[in-house]
Amino acid sequence: MKILLAGGAGYIGSHTALALLNSGHDVVIADNYYNASPEAVRRVEKLTGKPVTLYEADVQDRDAMMKIFKENDIDCVIHFAGLKAVGESVKKPLFYYRNNIDTTLTLLECMEATGVKNFVFSSSATVYGAENAIPYVETMHRGSCSNPYGWTKYMMEQILTDAVAADPDMNLVLLRYFNPIGAHESGMIGEDPKGIPNNLMPYISQVAVGKLDHLTIFGNDYDTPDGTCRRDYIHVMDLAEGHVKAVEYIADHPGTNIFNLGTGTPYSVLEIVKAFEKANDLKIKYEFGPRRAGDLPEFWANADKAKKVLGWTATRTLEDMCRDSWNWQKQNPNGYRD
Ligand code: UFG
Repeated sequence: MKILLAGGAGYIGSHTALALLNSGHDVVIADNYYNASPEAVRRVEKLTGKPVTLYEADVQDRDAMMKIFKENDIDCVIHFAGLKAVGESVKKPLFYYRNNIDTTLTLLECMEATGVKNFVFSSSATVYGAENAIPYVETMHRGSCSNPYGWTKYMMEQILTDAVAADPDMNLVLLRYFNPIGAHESGMIGEDPKGIPNNLMPYISQVAVGKLDHLTIFGNDYDTPDGTCRRDYIHVMDLAEGHVKAVEYIADHPGTNIFNLGTGTPYSVLEIVKAFEKANDLKIKYEFGPRRAGDLPEFWANADKAKKVLGWTATRTLEDMCRDSWNWQKQNPNGYRD
């Protein structure tokens, strides 16, 4: 199949591009490089030995996107072109709503105009909100989100579901990611956050490489086994392979299908720090600080549906995730700017 990856030069998009190419699919990428780099795509081409059709384009730009749809015979779209920093979304809600909703509408309009019927969406566990019991199951209602970023995912899921309900020939897969970490085992592609990282693993990696002095663990008084928050961390290559399964499933399965992509096993912040130290034989300086606003104490996936229906399951261990994150960071201390 020929797959358009909107926002495909970012962290999850680039790893998915690699997995799709290695599975024999063709890849077209449109990206404005806001939180991404063309160098990631060049490295994907090098690793796979296969070409990617790459466009520098803002996915909100309808004319630019129409040109891409017309120039390529697209079978399926995967939408990664979302802004994703929780804290930034609280400060700049309009920026988040404009980008995330507009990119989704533009893709849907271009698909309608050119007859493309398959849409895979990068969603998030954040849509389960704070009300649902854990582990999260796909049959649960979406909950209320604690920040604008989360609400954009919630709203985008709704927009997509409505669009698909109105067209019996359209197929939609919503992939709800848990906490993606790690990097391709080569260390040539990985996560390259803008500025000081918000997320745990890039923060730990940058402490390890000496760019940041120490990690602050946000709260150690939660009602969890060691008092720190627990999450379902998933290796980004497992996540990427989940997209390949979704793309190969979607065309024969009309309507909306939702899958959690997680491991089903939670780890605490302290467990992640210890695992990183052990896997890489180094020490991470950390201290405990106050809780971060909006953090839930713990959540993880029920990952049964993806296993049963897609035949997908996460196979990489926490040790793999820690080793590969560090392998990427130490080879690329300044990300793609090296
Ligand atoms: N953490 C720290 N110190 C840090 C960074 C993170 O202690 O410097 C802790 C957080 O408090 C949390 C855990 O590490 O307990 C994981 O934090 P991340 O920021 O890596 O991930 P989140 O679980 O907060 O965020 C994820 C996704 C978002 C999604 C959100 C839903 O990255 O896309 O879950 O809650 F919206």
